[in-house]
Amino acid sequence: CGIVGYIGAKEAYPIIIKGLKRLEYRGYDSAGLALFNGEKFISSKTKGKVSDLELRAEAEGTLKGSMGIGHTRWATHGVPNDVNSHPHFSNSGELVIIHNGIIENYEPLKQELIKRGYTFKSDTDTEVLVNLIEDVQKTNNLKLGKAVQVALNQVIGAYAICVMDIKKPNEIVAARLGSPLAIGVGDGEYFVASDASPFIEYTNNAIYLEDEEMAIIRLHKPIKIRKIKDDELVSPYVQELQLNLEQIEKGGYEHFMLKEIHEQPAVIKDTFRGRLLSDKGLIKMAGIEDNLQKFTNAKRIIVVACGTSWHAGLVGEYMIEEFARIPVEVEYASEFRYRNPIINEDDVVIAISQSGETADTLAAIKLAKEKGAFVFGVCNVVGSSISRETHAGAYTHAGPEIGVASTKAFTTQITVLALIALRLAEAKGTMSKSEYLRNLLELELIPEKVEEALKEDANIIKIAEIYKDSTNCLYLGRGFNYPVALEGALKLKEISYIHAEGYPAAEMKHGPIALIDEQMPVIVIAPNQNHYDKVVSNIQEIKARSGKIIAVVSKGDTQVKALADHIIEMPESTEALTSIIATIPLQLLSYHIAVMRECNVDQPRNLAKSVTVE
Ligand code: G6P
Repeated sequence: CGIVGYIGAKEAYPIIIKGLKRLEYRGYDSAGLALFNGEKFISSKTKGKVSDLELRAEAEGTLKGSMGIGHTRWATHGVPNDVNSHPHFSNSGELVIIHNGIIENYEPLKQELIKRGYTFKSDTDTEVLVNLIEDVQKTNNLKLGKAVQVALNQVIGAYAICVMDIKKPNEIVAARLGSPLAIGVGDGEYFVASDASPFIEYTNNAIYLEDEEMAIIRLHKPIKIRKIKDDELVSPYVQELQLNLEQIEKGGYEHFMLKEIHEQPAVIKDTFRGRLLSDKGLIKMAGIEDNLQKFTNAKRIIVVACGTSWHAGLVGEYMIEEFARIPVEVEYASEFRYRNPIINEDDVVIAISQSGETADTLAAIKLAKEKGAFVFGVCNVVGSSISRETHAGAYTHAGPEIGVASTKAFTTQITVLALIALRLAEAKGTMSKSEYLRNLLELELIPEKVEEALKEDANIIKIAEIYKDSTNCLYLGRGFNYPVALEGALKLKEISYIHAEGYPAAEMKHGPIALIDEQMPVIVIAPNQNHYDKVVSNIQEIKARSGKIIAVVSKGDTQVKALADHIIEMPESTEALTSIIATIPLQLLSYHIAVMRECNVDQPRNLAKSVTVE
């Protein structure tokens, strides 16, 4: 979600609308704003994009005021509709809030507030928070800032919030934990936003709140920043922004793709947050729990998907078969739908789609439903067609993916599939308890291992420099890393227009080996795990034909290092989960090669983010 706030002498409405448009990359399923018009709060909100909000606000006349807050949403709790859109008001109507993030303990807080007489209009965790602030404020007769602080100390979760109080019409209270917040310091005016893009044309001076900090922003007064937990005052550090507008829209990254690559540690965590309870040895996903028998009784699981999502499906196949011992088939949705597939009522179909709008995948789902199968969706876009068409599902919490070449969607899809495979393994008793627990703990460590894998960037840039003018490229991997090789090749093709193919390493000798010469870079995924020796033999075969070897290896590897022309190191995990980590260097390699070739990385030619035609 994206948030914008303004307090000053200008009209707040145009600043908020323009700011929200710049933040739409953060989500655009609903939008809303609230302004103080000198007497009271006026507010408009709507399902849809910021342009829909503009129409609504103009129709409703909610345009006047020199203090206000606005929000563009990417739904977590509650479907995107008008009621669930932000801002949310407290029961008295005196407080109004916008919020990014998730309040994990909203349910007990809500029950407590209901006992205390509070009522709720929406399904959101945000409405719980604003009423909690009101309850704290009224019970203890506190100022807004103090009430926000006390309330936040009762909250578990992640947030960036802005709150206004009708009793304090020249004040915005902002706070952050886990979600970014920048405060623009202008001349007699202040801005608050998820990143600096909404205010960059008004001021170059910004204060970035740190986690667990809150700011009391009052007109014509200095900003006060406090630690939420221990109340300690922090002296505000005003930074001069060096960035131009375009860069800032991408959060300081040159391209959305690069930004999305770097978001992976955070979004993988978001994807298992609340679902992976390693301390209790549990995996909890509502869509699976509610339909557990369908899965455990399934004679077969069929995965349908396209593109990168299909590659994630292949990793899922290996995981589900290995862990839960249920036979899995992975089908291109476009093939499946037209080949009169055999589908039985005791088949479970898993449809994987980032956008949730891919026409072939949607059609495959409809066909499977007609034939009586139970269809489970793994989508990233909340409320998308596929998420509505499936019987049940689990969202990947990757956030909006703007770069056409999919990156964080892929690794979060694997994360969801790992959770499913492990949950089914536990239910079916197909995995030893210790192995199961080890995988849970390892999954929890993936974000930091991905972070570590990202540190190879400088090394990867050097390798990209050497191979940027190649015309062909081969990607090899075995086991769980075979789909990773396919995905690595797809990334390179998509954004750099270099022909690339992915192969199971041993299949190389049945064809692609004929292509190998000193011009041909071969990227080999060779972690120090099962099949390591086999991969080493494959590397020898390439070397014997003068191919150039770029090997992705476990940290500290020596054997492959001695053979390869270049190595890229990564931390190890279980065999299955290493597939997530091994994906990272391949994404970076494609990215840098594409940049060096001056390709349009975020919008490669001929491709579309969401393919809604068959
Ligand atoms: C397009 C995109 C790919 C994506 C594929 C499937 O081709 O460019 O990045 O993998 O569609 O999309 P989906 O939204 O269903 O995952």
